[in-house]
Amino acid sequence: MRLAPPEAAAPLPKGHESGPFVAPGGNTSGPAEPVPRRLLDGGVGAVGVATKLLQVSQLCASYGATKVLYDLDFSLAAGHITAILGANGAGKTTTLRAICQTVRTSGSVLFEGKQLVGQSTESVVRLGVAHVPDGRGTFTALSTEENLRLGGYTRRNRSELALDLEKAFTRFPILKQRRHQQAGTLSGGEQQMLAISRALMLRPKLLLLDEPSFGLAPLIVAEIFRIMRTINQEDGVSMLLVEQNASLALDLADHAYLLETGRVALSGPAEQIKNDESVRRAYLGY
Ligand SMILES: Nc1ncnc2c1ncn2[C@@H]1O[C@H](COP(=O)(O)OP(=O)(O)OP(=O)(O)O)[C@@H](O)[C@H]1O
Ligand SMILES: [Mg+2]
Repeated sequence: MRLAPPEAAAPLPKGHESGPFVAPGGNTSGPAEPVPRRLLDGGVGAVGVATKLLQVSQLCASYGATKVLYDLDFSLAAGHITAILGANGAGKTTTLRAICQTVRTSGSVLFEGKQLVGQSTESVVRLGVAHVPDGRGTFTALSTEENLRLGGYTRRNRSELALDLEKAFTRFPILKQRRHQQAGTLSGGEQQMLAISRALMLRPKLLLLDEPSFGLAPLIVAEIFRIMRTINQEDGVSMLLVEQNASLALDLADHAYLLETGRVALSGPAEQIKNDESVRRAYLGY
């Protein structure tokens, strides 16, 4: 298999160009040690530069004095689904927070060519980036419908909003049944459906999803992922999907990045990662 330079033009550290995979727990070096990266892109990355919706370069993030992301380089093509995989504490959630500017960041996050670093979270939202956070972030004391209406708060066109509300109810019929029910009383799966639908009320170009499968039964997860694919294909919404469930994410995504201790350890087309047994065993544990 050919190793390739990274999509985002970050040079690999010398001696790491064809470095071995990092076994799970095999590289426990502290933050100062660069993790060897293996790329499965076949030389040019999954997509050309012109079609990039999101281009992240040298992205760092910290909580107070603690740095948790180190020079991340990755990108997402318009209309694609990209997965970010990694173990607990790898920095997946922080990566989404860094894009939304809810954590201190440096580096560059270009969305449709516009720099997000340094903007307010509200500006990021208005540019078309919606975040479905871990824990779902529903307003538990409000009804399903009130949550959905709040989701469209940046929009003024009432007839369009009404259309989108109906669309949410068509996509997830259970939400229509629960329309007047307090969101805190919904099941986990229904709350995840509500969180996704609420984010879509912004009519975003990019949806950031943080572990949508977390804590849900397999049948519910399958249903939610099926509808996510429909949303991507029918509405053209691009997605950056954070998942610990690698198998599930690789089935949906076009491209994947694997994070280890705040660094990109591996990247490539989802299909290729899924079919590479050594990668699956070493990194993904299945
Ligand atoms: N609010 C915070 N304050 C301080 N450190 C934090 C905070 N949130 C996360 N961290 C630390 O940042 C690192 C990355 O955490 P992050 O939540 O991004 O990982 P993750 O890949 O999403 O993990 P998980 O799979 O458990 O959700 C971890 O070491 C974590 O302890
Ligand atoms: Mg997380």
